[in-house]
Formats: sequence, structure tokens, C-alpha cells
Amino acid sequence: MMVLKTIAETRSACARISAAGKTLGLVPTMGSLHQGHLSLVRAAQASCDAVAVSIFVNPTQFGPTEDFAAYPRALEDDCRILEGAGVDLVFAPSSEEMYPEGASTFVEVAGLSERLDGASRPGHFRGVATVVAKLFHIFSPERAFFGQKDAAQVAVLRKMVRDLQFPVELDVCPTVREPDGLALSSRNRYLTGEQRRQALVLSRALLAVQQQLQGGERDSTKLLATAMRVLKEEPAVEVDYCRIVDPDTLEDVGDVGQGALVAVAALVGATRLIDNLLV
Ligand code: PAJ
Repeated sequence: MMVLKTIAETRSACARISAAGKTLGLVPTMGSLHQGHLSLVRAAQASCDAVAVSIFVNPTQFGPTEDFAAYPRALEDDCRILEGAGVDLVFAPSSEEMYPEGASTFVEVAGLSERLDGASRPGHFRGVATVVAKLFHIFSPERAFFGQKDAAQVAVLRKMVRDLQFPVELDVCPTVREPDGLALSSRNRYLTGEQRRQALVLSRALLAVQQQLQGGERDSTKLLATAMRVLKEEPAVEVDYCRIVDPDTLEDVGDVGQGALVAVAALVGATRLIDNLLV
């Protein structure tokens, strides 16, 4: 497995893959890998000849008061895991490599970027869209793999790919969970034992909505009331948003008959967790 730090080396490696007639799948990550990330790697291996993983804790997607400095970094462990998984190429650049001195060009998906997490984390999706656009330019992958866990991120990136006509196919993979329902996240390691127990209320709320949906309920107001009732079972969990939205526009929908995204974000202690259910 190649572990590359520079854009120039990575571009050359990708050109060699392409010249050999192989398709390339890209899995962008911020590292500190878990089974959610690895499910994307496996999906990429199932449909591409070669698989590249980027590991970069992207400073531009963190707000000034967020956890950029504290975000877990484990490059050696990550590389060991990816080597074992049969990944072909890892790109782990420095901040200076990705954002050369004086860089001032950003990708902004207007409208979508201000919804859901974008409303509570101003500038977050601008940072995500910018770094993913850079990665697409560096790798020119045929396919790129993202997790449904970050549903608003998926909506923003789909729109970016469409608007900027990137020749890449986005694959969205289901959320991987712990056996008790907690969605895997690199941020779960911030949680104390007690907070981890409290955090289960997010998936429990989504499960309650799913059960009500299976019972035939289609009215968002009623479904949201159910979710909020469950979320209130843990007063220590501070809900940021709980919404039922169109998965593409991220705008509220009244009736879930045409398909919808039930999305929740909450603070458990100082840790912000998100989860969702695609109806
Ligand atoms: P990161 O949080 O490391 O996640 C990398 C990818 O793994 C994302 O597509 C995310 O949705 C997916 N993922 C995370 N947890 C998952 C889970 N439990 N099940 C399935 N997939 C999961 O998302 C980012 O990094 C960054 O914003 C990035 C796209 C790399 C841009 O910096």
C-alpha cells in the first residue's frame, strides 16, 4: 500500500492506475477509522479496481470554537487497518499541502450549506465542499464513497457534483451502528460511559419514528412529536435540531409519503452527535 503525502505524488499514482485501465474509487475520511469507514472501503472494492483513502483532518470545516485541535488523529493505526483491508493508496497530506499559503478560493453550495448542520455550524459545509472538490481534482476518481450517517453532507456534495459537473459517481453507504444502535463516529471516543448510554436516545428516537411509520403515520408533525418525546427521556442530551426534510433540498416536509430524511443532532456533554433515518 502506498502512503503519500504530496499532491504531485498522488496525481502520478492515480495517472498510473488510470493508464493501466483500472477504475479508481475514493473514500475521503478524516481518519481515526472505524467500521463505518471500512464499510465504505469494502463498497469501493466491490465496484472499483483500485481504492484510495484520503486521511485529512480538514481545518476549514471546523468552526473557531470546535474540536479541530482535539479531533482524534491516529495515522499509524489507520494505515495498518487500511493495509490489512487491501487498500491500494492512502493520501495523508499536511494542512500546508492542501491549503497553500494565501489560499482564498472556496466552494459554497448556496442554500443547502446553511441547512441542518450548516445552520448550527456556519462555514462547515463550505469547508467540506472545498476539500472534497480539491480531492476530486487530485484523484479524478470514477466513484467516491460517502456515508448516509452524514446525510446533509451527502446532499451538499451531490449538489456540488451536479452544479460543478464533476465526472464522478457518488455512492452512499448505509450507517454502520454498534449492536445497541449507536451510530459509529470518530467522536464517540469523547463520550464517558454515562454519556455513551445517554447518546443511545438518538437512535431510540429514530427507531420510535420508524415504528410509527410502519404503523402508517405520514404526518411529519406527529412523527417529530414522537421523536422529541423520546429525546426528552434524556434531559442531559441537548437537542440541536430534529427535523423531517427532503433528503435533496434539506427543506422541511409535511408529509413523508414521497420519501424523507428524519435527521437529529444533539449535544451529549460537549460532544455533538448526529444520526438520521432515510424513509
Ligand atoms: P469522517 O467523519 O471521517 O467520515 C468519512 C466518511 O465516513 C463520511 O462519508 C462519513 O459519512 C462516513 N461515516 C462516518 N461514520 C459512519 C458510519 N457510522 N456508517 C457509515 N459511514 C460512516 O465526513 C468526513 O470525515 C469529512 O467531512 C470528509 C468528507 C472526509 C471531508 O473532510
